[in-house]
Amino acid sequence: MDAVIGFLSTLTSAISNCALYSREHVSVDECTRKCLSILEKVLADSTSLEIMLIDDDLIVNKASFKEIGLQTTNLRKRIKRKGLSRIEFLPGVTYDELRTFIPEIVEVDRKIPDFPHIKTGVLEIRTEDAAGAEGVADEDAMGYLTEKIAEVKEIYKDIVRNKRVNVGGMSRAMENLAAGFSMRTNILDLLGYAASREEYTYIHATNVSALSIFQMRTLGVSDKMFLRDIGLAGLLHDIGKLKISREVLGKKAALSEKEWEEVRLHPVYGARILSSLAGLPPLCSIVAYQHHIQFDGKGYPKPELSSMRQHICSQVVAIADCFDALRSARPYKRGLEMKEIFPLMQKDSVRAFNPFLLKNFMYRVHKTLA
Ligand SMILES: [Fe+2]
Ligand SMILES: [Fe+2]
Repeated sequence: MDAVIGFLSTLTSAISNCALYSREHVSVDECTRKCLSILEKVLADSTSLEIMLIDDDLIVNKASFKEIGLQTTNLRKRIKRKGLSRIEFLPGVTYDELRTFIPEIVEVDRKIPDFPHIKTGVLEIRTEDAAGAEGVADEDAMGYLTEKIAEVKEIYKDIVRNKRVNVGGMSRAMENLAAGFSMRTNILDLLGYAASREEYTYIHATNVSALSIFQMRTLGVSDKMFLRDIGLAGLLHDIGKLKISREVLGKKAALSEKEWEEVRLHPVYGARILSSLAGLPPLCSIVAYQHHIQFDGKGYPKPELSSMRQHICSQVVAIADCFDALRSARPYKRGLEMKEIFPLMQKDSVRAFNPFLLKNFMYRVHKTLA
């Protein structure tokens, strides 16, 4: 992580120096060499270094860099002004490539050239009617998704029953599921309803997973690995509840304050369980820890740093989680209808949810109803 932070800050300096002086200036050359040396170290242990810009959040190798307090404002602005949402550095990147690429970021009106080891792209962040061009989701696609959702549900059921996680199998199943989503997927037809408390545990997890992938996909994200990771994070968000007593979780009457205290620990338990599982993306433990922290920083658990912001993927999962909880019937409440759910969530939007994400979600769900 330190090397990635070093790379981002050196890259920011190199780009700023280009803008301040000229592309030939000695400081640009120095920063480029430093960037290359850090990049080579990072790429020695991974297949790529990927920088994504989503809703003004800088995501580097799937981790949000707002959270760790790195000053990335200038880099974000430069990338945005250039019209880029994704930059990926691949092993083998050379000094010449970097030395050409860095000044190109400063040139706003020029199309960025192709590089063998630096891939760039736009993430197609669509917030209005652009999805209409995609055509209607066909029956084959829905059949495929229904099948893949059933597989994911079985995997979560196995986790709940046997308290063991096959990370490889689960990741492959999620990758297959994520691959079936399009901007026009009829998400409501894919959501399951639980007939019992036990069923609720794994149907809710699967629904939250599908709803999270759906949101990311409708925001224009098409990167398969990213969609897989948000799907896994959605699926595992409540895994910490496995540590809460059955009596408390199944209680039909109102919970006492002590019982609530126990329930409120499930994000901490979840993050602990997931961070101990080799091969899982770190995003899963981040989301498990943060899914009950609100957009305004309230909620639970109390963030250790007051400056800590909820990761954008936690915001996506929080919307999916609340939506599915409201629409589901439980022993102590009826399931709400769509027309009742959105006014409730909107009432809370500024406080509890990222308003941009909620607006996109509501819009997309309404499109599937139309
Ligand atoms: Fe939860
Ligand atoms: Fe949940």
